[in-house]
Amino acid sequence: MIDLEEFGIQEGISEIIFTSMSIEGIPNAAPIGLHMKNGRLFAMIYKSKTLENIIEKPTAAANIVDDPVLFVQSALSDIEPQKFEFVEGTPVLKRVLGWIIFDCRIKKGENISVVELLAVRSKILQRKIKPINRGFNAVIEATVHATRYVVLKEQKYLDYIDQYNTIVQKCGGPGEKEAMKLLYDLIRL
Ligand SMILES: Cc1cc2nc3c(=O)[nH]c(=O)nc-3n(C[C@H](O)[C@H](O)[C@H](O)COP(=O)(O)O)c2cc1C
Repeated sequence: MIDLEEFGIQEGISEIIFTSMSIEGIPNAAPIGLHMKNGRLFAMIYKSKTLENIIEKPTAAANIVDDPVLFVQSALSDIEPQKFEFVEGTPVLKRVLGWIIFDCRIKKGENISVVELLAVRSKILQRKIKPINRGFNAVIEATVHATRYVVLKEQKYLDYIDQYNTIVQKCGGPGEKEAMKLLYDLIRL
């Protein structure tokens, strides 16, 4: 049995990059929050490529990632095919701390679908000591607002992004600053 705690997944919401594949064999990646409740793991997924893919092929992976650029890129554009590898036909990302492959049980909803995730295979590639960096956390918050901005185009999301950018510029390292630059480039397209 796979111990999700070993992957840092605990009660509450864990932000990971979810990888899935279409029936044509095209891999996709997007940040998704995994909700752990009473020992069961769920994702709440809006209409998206990710949802289409797991409806077609109900297997996907949670990639545990600490690269801020990968979060921005997978949220707002596509990850290059060479950044994926395949484990028994399921796409995972190559440069990750670890991954967990799941069978997906989907309860389709009008706007949002609830997906129970049953772990079937997992791997830890890297164990790292890492203090909290407010710049990294700010990139994640800004990226959540960016995914709302691209759909709803409301000014308030740009204001939130600018506020988080102030923290990124103060506390972030080169990776966080690069991620923020990419975020602004992608929402201005
Ligand atoms: C940190 C973070 C967490 C997210 N969590 C979710 C989520 O739990 N469910 C969801 O539907 N979208 C979530 N999103 C938004 C999706 O990643 C975004 O809509 C993405 O563009 C979907 O890509 P796709 O169409 O390739 O699947 C999240 C975004 C970020 C940045």
